[in-house]
Amino acid sequence: MKVFATRKIPEPGLNLLRKEFEVKINPYNRVLSKEEIIEELKGKDGLLCLLTDPIDKDVIDSEPKLKMIANYAVGYDNVDIKAATDRGIPVSNTPGVLTDTTAEMAWALLFSVARRIVESDEFTRSGRFKGWAPMLMLGQDVTNKTLGIIGAGRIGTAFALKSKGFNMNVLYVDNRINETLENELDAKKVDLPLLLRESDFISLHVSLNTATYHMISEKELKMMKKNAVLINTSRGPVINEKALVKALKEKWIFGAGLDVYEHEPEISDELKKLENIILQPHSASATIETRTKMAITAAENMIAGLKGEIPPNCVNTEVFKR
Ligand code: GLV
Ligand code: GLV
Repeated sequence: MKVFATRKIPEPGLNLLRKEFEVKINPYNRVLSKEEIIEELKGKDGLLCLLTDPIDKDVIDSEPKLKMIANYAVGYDNVDIKAATDRGIPVSNTPGVLTDTTAEMAWALLFSVARRIVESDEFTRSGRFKGWAPMLMLGQDVTNKTLGIIGAGRIGTAFALKSKGFNMNVLYVDNRINETLENELDAKKVDLPLLLRESDFISLHVSLNTATYHMISEKELKMMKKNAVLINTSRGPVINEKALVKALKEKWIFGAGLDVYEHEPEISDELKKLENIILQPHSASATIETRTKMAITAAENMIAGLKGEIPPNCVNTEVFKR
């Protein structure tokens, strides 16, 4: 069988695939256009794709032989799951292996914004540091503060658990009670307005869907504390970026740390000009270990799917129930 990978991923994953299949890899170091993906998909049984590839109905329906889609990411909002399911094609993601890595990036951003690390580095590097000063680079304490988790799934839970050493009061918004958080941190499940009003640090860990699109907009930003720090390592469109620019410009909140953007990879000039924001290039899962594990996970799912087995991380298991 034949597999097309839309981008070169770490070798251990590709090697697993090469043992079983004929593997073609995007030869360029760039994202392919939809037309290019459709062209390369001709005659292929499996598609290994990235979160930067919109795998819509046109792509999915373009190749009658297609039997398996392995997305190299935990988020899979880039794949039209309904179109895949309608064709009986299983789709997999890479959950678990990137949980702590992503949670660690959220903490890195939280501290960087709270203590103005990037701004301070630039200040120091450029020779403006003339000695210790009482009012220089004042930030926000983290210990004993209130932490608000929006989306208490795997990553949100791991992120919250890492707050233990900082003795934080933890609030969360989720559809379900999270017993781990309630038992280990005495965390409280609250509604969104309460979380926004009470939290000093707010971190987003939801997946992107119609319910979470622009979940944080002008109204929500206005509910936050003046000292609040907002962190987003989930998906860009969860925040209305125009509203965030306004909030940061007019200092409704203290600052923000973003790994993802509403119109990724485009970032508005207005956002880039702000001092009270830290910008990361969607790299929350970017460690050598984790990207390797993601490659192996995606490959294992591909192999299972093309053997007709239920892939271990299938997100549309209904295709096996018919
Ligand atoms: C990264 O954003 C992922 O979904 O894995
Ligand atoms: C992501 O995998 C999450 O469950 O938070």
